[in-house]
Amino acid sequence: MGKVLAVANQKGGVGKTTTAINLAASLAAAEHPTLLMDIDPQANCTSGIGIEPKTVSSSTYEVLIGDVPVEEATRSTEMPFLDVVPSHINLVGAEIEMVDVTERERLLKKALRRERRKYDFVVIDCPPSLGLLTLNALTASNAVVIPVQAEYFALEGLGQLLNTIKIVRQHLNPDLDIEGVLLTMFDTRLRLSNQIAQEVRRYFGDKVFDAIVQRNVRLGEAPSFGKPALLYDANSKGANNYMALAQEVIDCNRRYLDADGAVDDAFRKDHPAGTPSANTPSPEAGAGNGQPASSPPGSAPDGSDDDEEQRSGLPHQPPVREANGFSL
Ligand SMILES: Nc1ncnc2c1ncn2[C@@H]1O[C@H](COP(=O)(O)OP(=O)(O)OP(=O)(O)O)[C@@H](O)[C@H]1O
Ligand SMILES: [Mg+2]
Repeated sequence: MGKVLAVANQKGGVGKTTTAINLAASLAAAEHPTLLMDIDPQANCTSGIGIEPKTVSSSTYEVLIGDVPVEEATRSTEMPFLDVVPSHINLVGAEIEMVDVTERERLLKKALRRERRKYDFVVIDCPPSLGLLTLNALTASNAVVIPVQAEYFALEGLGQLLNTIKIVRQHLNPDLDIEGVLLTMFDTRLRLSNQIAQEVRRYFGDKVFDAIVQRNVRLGEAPSFGKPALLYDANSKGANNYMALAQEVIDCNRRYLDADGAVDDAFRKDHPAGTPSANTPSPEAGAGNGQPASSPPGSAPDGSDDDEEQRSGLPHQPPVREANGFSL
């Protein structure tokens, strides 16, 4: 059974979609069959992995509301071990349409029951809210990845998320775990980033991933080319940071993968290592065999980072208002 990971934080713009795309792509590059699922009506994950939302006829919406099997909504990508269930703007209405459905928080869990056997990992990109869509993701998941932007107010709102996780554990999914808190958009040159990291580690302890995602211009550019950073510029810091995260996730889940994660042989036959799927347009991509992709035209050879100026005038102590009382 594939391990289901929800990438969640109701705060907007903290790097959920970037994390979902690049973690899923990095797991797939390590030859772990992975399903990336977009349950955000914004469909950023869908376009960011190269699917034009207008071309989507079966999406998460049809899976949740129309009883369409996940398999029918699943699309292959240019990476042999990565499949995607796209989202659609229709999902905006799903939360209202679900209100009268019995067991409405368990729709995604039920939909994934059979499908997750085909994958080692299912990565779900959640919307920036704690509504029914996110509740469905938390109910369907084994664990949550929580991206936290290394910025002022980083910890604000996390109490609410942790409280929701607690409620989900009590009523819907007792085994829901926290896979890890991920520091994103980290700028090593900023004292503030380092202070935020210290604060986050103080409150979440060993639940914070060792891997840190630095602020990296390639991570911002890659979605407009419909590619994970790994295929856009494999040498970029962003691509490397997410490979390190994927490795950490794989290492932490070795026992799970050995015990439970046996993917159906039939699926492995469909996705042999290094063999692109039917719609694979990019043979030079190298994903799936561990080889780096070539840099994009005009890219700096070192995949250089944003040259963000040192910010001044920010308080040296990050706020910890909601941090007290965190319990994992
Ligand atoms: N490490 C990074 N370095 C540079 N830019 C980044 C990084 N991570 C994310 N971004 C950019 O920041 C913006 C917000 O990221 P993203 O869309 O992943 O956040 P989100 O949490 O999914 O947002 P939303 O809450 O709207 O769904 C995007 O433009 C993305 O390209
Ligand atoms: Mg998003």
